[in-house]
Amino acid sequence: MRDVECVEFLRWALPRLGMRWRGFRRVRRQVCRRVDRRLRELGLADAAAYRSHLESNPGEWTVLAGLCRVTISRFYRDRAVFDALRDDVLPQLCAGARAEPPRTLRCWSAGCGSGEEAYSLSMLFRLCLAPRFPELRLRVRATDIDDAVLARARRGVFAAGALRELPEDWRARAFDETDAGWRIRPAFRAPIEFFREDVCAPRPDPEDRFHLVLCRNLAFTYFETDLQRQVLGRLAERIRPGGALVLGIHESLPPDAPGFAPWHARLRIFRRLGAATRGSESA
Ligand SMILES: C[S@@+](CC[C@H](N)C(=O)[O-])C[C@H]1O[C@@H](n2cnc3c(N)ncnc32)[C@H](O)[C@@H]1O
Repeated sequence: MRDVECVEFLRWALPRLGMRWRGFRRVRRQVCRRVDRRLRELGLADAAAYRSHLESNPGEWTVLAGLCRVTISRFYRDRAVFDALRDDVLPQLCAGARAEPPRTLRCWSAGCGSGEEAYSLSMLFRLCLAPRFPELRLRVRATDIDDAVLARARRGVFAAGALRELPEDWRARAFDETDAGWRIRPAFRAPIEFFREDVCAPRPDPEDRFHLVLCRNLAFTYFETDLQRQVLGRLAERIRPGGALVLGIHESLPPDAPGFAPWHARLRIFRRLGAATRGSESA
């Protein structure tokens, strides 16, 4: 399929999935390749034929949504963000978590891909924060809608390229080299639980209130504004007052989003307002 034909198709189809073309502009080639493959599987001649197929087969929209998933990630992605978490945000959150039983820092990686983000957090905690907060435990809930990436996340074996942004000696401290790739060590895997979950409909669980939520390079890149607002509302319900929300470095909150104030504006780290922080926030 020619680029122009695929772009026209995506501009038509994405809004019908609650997604926006703008987020896909740079990554469209991989999506177009998948759509092309799907056309061949179905024996369809072109994008127009696929469009008719979608109109008469509602179940195909779920297949198309799967083809539009971008799952690229890497460890310590956007180094300055993890550095700010290490030096400023997490020490404050750890101090708060240490003060209340069960002395557990609770984090959620929503749209975790193959686990690189959750494992980076685990390394950050164990290698940098645990020595300062020895009585504190870390728990990370890592969720994604895609079973294939979750299987890779649970396996915990990565190509060297995915580790290239990690601080100097962390590869040696957190991984074992195997024939299959770099395998994360059990101590860094232990705090993390992986679940299949749609960020648009997270499992309601009032016990799950997090100190830190990362939702990067997913809703606020690919979803339309209305859906972004819905997702943000659901994330907000799950973050403690004073807790942090981290978006992707090129993402923004939807306009007029209530309930958050910039913590590190340039790095897209926000503080959840609420009883504990309201009035003290001026940013
Ligand atoms: C580009 S990756 C981002 C991974 C990681 N957060 C990062 O920034 O490096 C986006 C991930 O979101 C997942 N995803 C897409 N739609 C989702 C949804 N509705 N609910 C949960 N995860 C979703 C994809 O499967 C993919 O693994």
